[in-house]
Amino acid sequence: MQMRSQTGEELQSLAGSFIASLMPGTQATLITLSGELGAGKTTFAQGIARVLGVTETVTSPTFVIEKVYDLRDSPPAGGWERLVHIDAYRLNSSHELEVLGWKELLADEQNLIVLEWPERVADIIPPGAHALRFDIENEERIITINGQENRQ
Ligand SMILES: Nc1ncnc2c1ncn2[C@@H]1O[C@H](COP(=O)(O)OP(=O)(O)O)[C@@H](O)[C@H]1O
Ligand SMILES: [Mg+2]
Repeated sequence: MQMRSQTGEELQSLAGSFIASLMPGTQATLITLSGELGAGKTTFAQGIARVLGVTETVTSPTFVIEKVYDLRDSPPAGGWERLVHIDAYRLNSSHELEVLGWKELLADEQNLIVLEWPERVADIIPPGAHALRFDIENEERIITINGQENRQ
């Protein structure tokens, strides 16, 4: 499925509708965001955070790798307890994500994990992840949901 957005604001609204179509399962819900720098991955993650009631400013976790937002005091949107926003851009191997507790994160169905740059850690992406790809066409962004990446 493909969608287009003309502005960052529109992309955030798309993120809101997308997340409304998901719900917690038996493991963490994982959304992977692929695309070059500036393609809109972080903007999309901000849209997810907004619709889930996160009031903190969501900034790119490029330098800290991972940021966790508590959703328990938020209005009941979605049903997850935590939003975990990860940017694997600076990681050199999936091992670096494993030492951050990746397995435990995945095992907890209360986690909604949004992962930028999944290509950096491709070998530890479980089947069943929601794979989104962002392509730039001038000021437009083309979002492809569940393309070929992450399929096993
Ligand atoms: N249609 C659009 N959708 C999303 N972002 C857009 C769009 N047009 C321009 N932009 C700009 O592109 C940039 C996207 O940045 P960001 O979301 O941080 O990307 P990434 O995380 O993929 O590197 C922002 O500066 C945003 O203002
Ligand atoms: Mg980013």
